[in-house]
Amino acid sequence: MGKVVRFAVSVEKELFDKFESIIKKGSFANRSQGISNLIKEYLVQNEWLSGRQVAGAITIVYEHTKRELVKKLLSTQHKYHHNIISTQHIHLDHSNCLEVVVVKGNPANIEKLFLELKSTKHIKHIALAVTTTGSKIP
Ligand code: NI
Repeated sequence: MGKVVRFAVSVEKELFDKFESIIKKGSFANRSQGISNLIKEYLVQNEWLSGRQVAGAITIVYEHTKRELVKKLLSTQHKYHHNIISTQHIHLDHSNCLEVVVVKGNPANIEKLFLELKSTKHIKHIALAVTTTGSKIP
């Protein structure tokens, strides 16, 4: 952790009370950690919007018995191989698979990859978790 600064903020009481109730539930160790996390969340979101390098993970659940679906998922991933750091395939049961695709790169490209994967017919669920590469977040 770098140098710590103290600052005072003014917010509406209702907003403060709601935030305090979340802190008390144990979501954060204390108010400072809660505010720090919110600021980091905002910085990560800003990285996505400003076109810098970002990282993330795409999770996909599908049935491997659907051959056309598997073919399409693979060809899409090869198309965006520059943005894919790694993939992990987990056999959830006899027919269901979970694939985790770890991505890095320009947010517009990551978004395109995600939307192309999402457009694959018969996927059961797909989600994109976006994060930072860490280089711009203290
Ligand atoms: Ni599988």
